[in-house]
Order: sequence, then structure tokens, then C-alpha cells
Amino acid sequence: MNSQQVKQRFSIIGNAPLLNRAIEVAIQVAPTDISVLVTGESGTGKEIIPQIIHHISARKHGEYIAVNCGAIPEGTIDSELFGHEKGAFTGASGSRQGYFEVADGGTIFLDEVAELPMQTQVRLLRVLETGEFIRVGSSKVIKTNVRVVAATNENMLKAISSGKFREDLYYRLNTVPIQLPPLRDRHEDIHLIFRKFAQDFADKYRMPPIKLTEDAVALMTAYPWPGNIRQLKNLVEQLSVIETLREINAILLDSYLPKIADKSPVRINETVNESFSEREIMYKFLFEMKKDLTELKKLVVELISQGKDIDLNHDQAAVVNRIYNDLNEPINDPSRILPPGRPEMPTGQKSDTETYENHEVYEESLSLGDREKELIQKALEKHRGKRKYAASELGISERTLYRKIKEFNLTDL
Ligand SMILES: Nc1ncnc2c1ncn2[C@@H]1O[C@H](COP(=O)(O)OP(=O)(O)O)[C@@H](O)[C@H]1O
Ligand SMILES: [Mg+2]
Repeated sequence: MNSQQVKQRFSIIGNAPLLNRAIEVAIQVAPTDISVLVTGESGTGKEIIPQIIHHISARKHGEYIAVNCGAIPEGTIDSELFGHEKGAFTGASGSRQGYFEVADGGTIFLDEVAELPMQTQVRLLRVLETGEFIRVGSSKVIKTNVRVVAATNENMLKAISSGKFREDLYYRLNTVPIQLPPLRDRHEDIHLIFRKFAQDFADKYRMPPIKLTEDAVALMTAYPWPGNIRQLKNLVEQLSVIETLREINAILLDSYLPKIADKSPVRINETVNESFSEREIMYKFLFEMKKDLTELKKLVVELISQGKDIDLNHDQAAVVNRIYNDLNEPINDPSRILPPGRPEMPTGQKSDTETYENHEVYEESLSLGDREKELIQKALEKHRGKRKYAASELGISERTLYRKIKEFNLTDL
């Protein structure tokens, strides 16, 4: 299989020489059992490499297991990877196979490998060197034949010098390194990837795809993309959902892009500027929401004043539909940033519009803060208190997250 075919099969977009090189190395190393370490910043597409390697290797009919080492609690990771015997620890009511047993004849992808605790690193080194391991609470040596691909966005040499990661294990994992380039080094691919995502979200939300004006393309190409392809994907989804005019110009695009302290052409204090654009996006949602609410209120008032069911015209149906969808979108939908506590509709009697409006604005700003707090708390819980990952998911800097944790008085998990 050549790299063009691999790209097609795995829906990989781009033609940057550094990307092509990474794919070619993956193809070359696939038929062997050599360990591979994939490095690259967060969001550069590391997860696709072990899949390519597995699916074009002789192990393709075996198991492929992806393990996020950063997401498994330190106390259970050995048992997850290597299994345990009945009674090995409190709560171990039965014995259990670990991934290294289940994936015999297949491939294990160890994502965020730098997060492995020391005692697990020892076990891992042993299984890589001898193909042998022992279940937790057992003394019986088990043999397995597993191919390991690992990935990290950490500087491994730093992790080694600070004593967080074993040097011998690093060299064992890193037999063949594959490095994924950051998006900012793939200028020629940015617009290409944008168009692919714009089409994907157009299909998903059944709207025409968004397009960029020439100056927006230039801005997008010059932007440093700290969150790489993941950030670009999220941005395209936001724009696709929010912007009713499907042509995006540079000014509009700029209002969506978080400013980067030292790389941004406009140098403004990072924190101030970042929270400015965060807020701006939120206000945008609120604004759209308010328009919908006004329409809906008109409709309700009409219904009430007539005292009977009425047929909805096209626009009214679209509004009801949109609000309905907003309420039912999954959690990662940007519209969920909206405050959940929507103002109650006046029922029965007509209320004084002005009082009602004021009341509404007050409620909205109240729940906006609540919503932000909730989002932050959720992200922290999801990443088990790891601020770095929570911040990256929220699209804010760790420093801003730290400030918000203090501001909202959140218990650090
Ligand atoms: N070359 C690419 N073309 C299209 N989508 C990509 C490409 N590389 C990555 N993606 C998408 O970008 C997102 C982030 O990729 P992921 O592999 O999770 O990054 P990482 O593991 O390096 O943080 C995923 O949604 C992935 O499908
Ligand atoms: Mg990843």
C-alpha cells in the first residue's frame, strides 16, 4: 500500500512533506514487530498512526486495543494492562485478563505513555523485552505476542531527566520514532483540511458548507494553531453552527481565534485578550438565542391570544426546530455553552414586556457564570483534575483555568 492509498483509506487530508514522511515510515515499519513511538503536539493526529500500522500489518485480524495511559487511575492500571487474580486486591472478586493477554497476536496502542506510573513502566519493559508478564497477585509467568505502538506529546527527554520516565523503556519504545508535524508547519494543508471539515459539518447539520474569503484564508494560514487539527475542527464546527452568512471573512474569523501571546501579530496581554474572545463567543450564542426567544415569544403570545392551535409558517417552524435541536444536542455541541436555565415563558396572562426583558437578561447573565463553572468542573472531572488536559479541552490556557478555578472556588480534583 502506498501513502496515497493509506490517506484515502484512513481519511487523512494533507500533502505536507512532513506528513507524507510520517505516513511512509508507518507503512515501512508496519510489517515488522518493531515498537514505534509517535510524537507530536496535541491534536496533530497521532491516533491514526497506530491504526495504520495495525491494519496493514499481518496482525490485522488480531485485536487492536487503544489504551489512554493518562486516563486510568494509578491504582488500577497494572491490572488493566496485565490482568489480576482473584483476591489480588480489595474488590478483586474474580480473576481478569489484562490487555496484554487479550491482544495476544494483535497490537496495543499506549496513548499518553509518559503518564505511566513507574511500577507499570517496569512491567512494560519486561513484556517488551521477553514477551512475558505476570498478572497482579499471581506468580505464574504468561507469554504474549503483542506489538506496541506508543504516543506522547511530552518531551520525553525532559521526563527522563526529571526521573518521571525510565530511560531504558524510552529507548525500547522509541526503536522507530514517527513525528507528526504541528499544523503551523503544514501551511499548504490548512485550507485543504478546512474545506474537508466544512463539508463534513455541512452534511452533519444539513446546511451549505461555510467558505472563507481570500483574506480569511490568509489569516487562517498564518495563525499558529496551538491546538492543531483538533482546534481547527472545533472552530469549523462552531462557525458552521453559528454563522448564518456562510462566507467567513478575516474580521469575523479573527473574532473566533484565541490570541496567542507571543506568536500573534497583535500583542495584547494574553489573559485579558483570551477571556475577551471566550466571552465574545458566549455573547454571540446569547445573542442568537435571544433572537430565537423573541421569535418564540411572539409565537406563544399569538397562540395564547388566539386561544387555539395555529399552523406555523416556515420561519416559525424553523425557529421551533432550532430551539428543539439546541435542547437536544450532545454535550460537545457549542450551543450547549448556552445557559441551561432558560427563562420561563409567561403563561396565561400577558406580562409587562419591559419587566420581563430585564428579568430575562438578569437570569441569563446569572446562569452564564453557572454554565461556565459547570463546564470547567466537568472538564476537570473528565480529566481527573489534570489541568493541562482540561484546559486544552476547554480551549483556554492553563493559567486562565487556574484563575477560573480560584474565581469559582472549585475544589481542585
Ligand atoms: N490529516 C488529517 N486529516 C483530517 N483529520 C485529521 C487529520 N489528522 C488528525 N485529524 C483529526 O484531528 C483530530 C485530532 O486528532 P488526534 O489523533 O486525536 O490527535 P492527537 O492524538 O495527536 O492529539 C481528530 O478528530 C482527527 O480525526
Ligand atoms: Mg490523542
